[in-house]
Formats: sequence, structure tokens, C-alpha cells
Amino acid sequence: MRVPSLALVLLGVIGVDAAAQAQDAAAGAVVFKTQCSVCHSPVEGKNMVGPSLFGVVGRVAGQVPGFRYSPANKDSDLTWDQATLDRYLTTPQAVVPKTIMPYAGLKDATKRADLIAYLSTLH
Ligand code: HEC
Repeated sequence: MRVPSLALVLLGVIGVDAAAQAQDAAAGAVVFKTQCSVCHSPVEGKNMVGPSLFGVVGRVAGQVPGFRYSPANKDSDLTWDQATLDRYLTTPQAVVPKTIMPYAGLKDATKRADLIAYLSTLH
């Protein structure tokens, strides 16, 4: 009886929300791996075909040192908050016309939410 009741107490402490969020970020890590990691690294300072996405959530567009952005991205005046990322990742070319990011977009809203939850952990 001791172990199950302890588990219940822990669940209460952590809270269902936190548990659900942790799961989203974990699912988002898989989305990142399959959809983004061919061009983007989550590691600070590591630029590939695309800029490092370390710390991207909340960052102003076009700011990663050493990465050669398109003028479209650099001068977009966007801040990558969650809502902007959600629109951008749905159809990048609609939010940043003439971007050089060759990615058509992620249409699945759940996968986008998971992915953004994962990106939020990169700090
Ligand atoms: C085939 C390569 C490629 C893929 C796949 C790709 N990207 Fe990109 N990404 C780029 C390039 C190149 C840029 C720079 C765009 C520019 O300068 O116009 C970029 C830019 C970005 C930016 C803007 C960063 C900044 O500092 O302003 C974000 C955010 C981003 N990508 C997120 C993603 C996410 C999330 C995925 C996966 C769903 C993804 N990208 C998939 C190549 C890619």
C-alpha cells in the first residue's frame, strides 16, 4: 500500500498539466528530429543549413551570430513567440515571403504544438 499511495501524492505534487506538457515536449523532440534536424541543430552556436534553434522561442528573427540569413528573414521584424512560430511553421513562405528556408510547412496542429513545446525547452 505504501508505494501506490506515494505515487498518488507525487502525481498530485507534479500536477497533471506539468505531466502533459512534459509529454508534449518529448513528442515534439521526435517531430524536430524527423522534420527539422536535417537543417537545424538545437545546440547553441551550431549553424547548419539553417541557424541554430537554441533559445529560438522569444528571440527576434535573424539574430543568430555567424548565420547568413536572407534579407526577408533578417528584416522581417518578427519575434519568434509561440503564436508567430505556430503561423510560421504552418506555412513559412506565407509569414516570411522570399525566405530561403526550403520547408513547406507542418500542417498538423498537434505536432506543431508539441514541436513548439520542445523548442521552448532549448534554453
Ligand atoms: C531544408 C532545410 C530546412 C528545414 C527542413 C527546416 N529549416 Fe528552418 N530554416 C532553414 C533556413 C535555410 C533558414 C534561414 C531562412 C532565411 O534566412 O530566410 C531557416 C530559418 C528558420 C527559423 C528562423 C530562425 C531565426 O533565427 O530567425 C526558424 C524559427 C526555423 N527555421 C524553424 C524550423 C523548424 C522548427 C523546422 C522543422 C519543422 C525547420 N525550420 C525546418 C532551413 C530549414
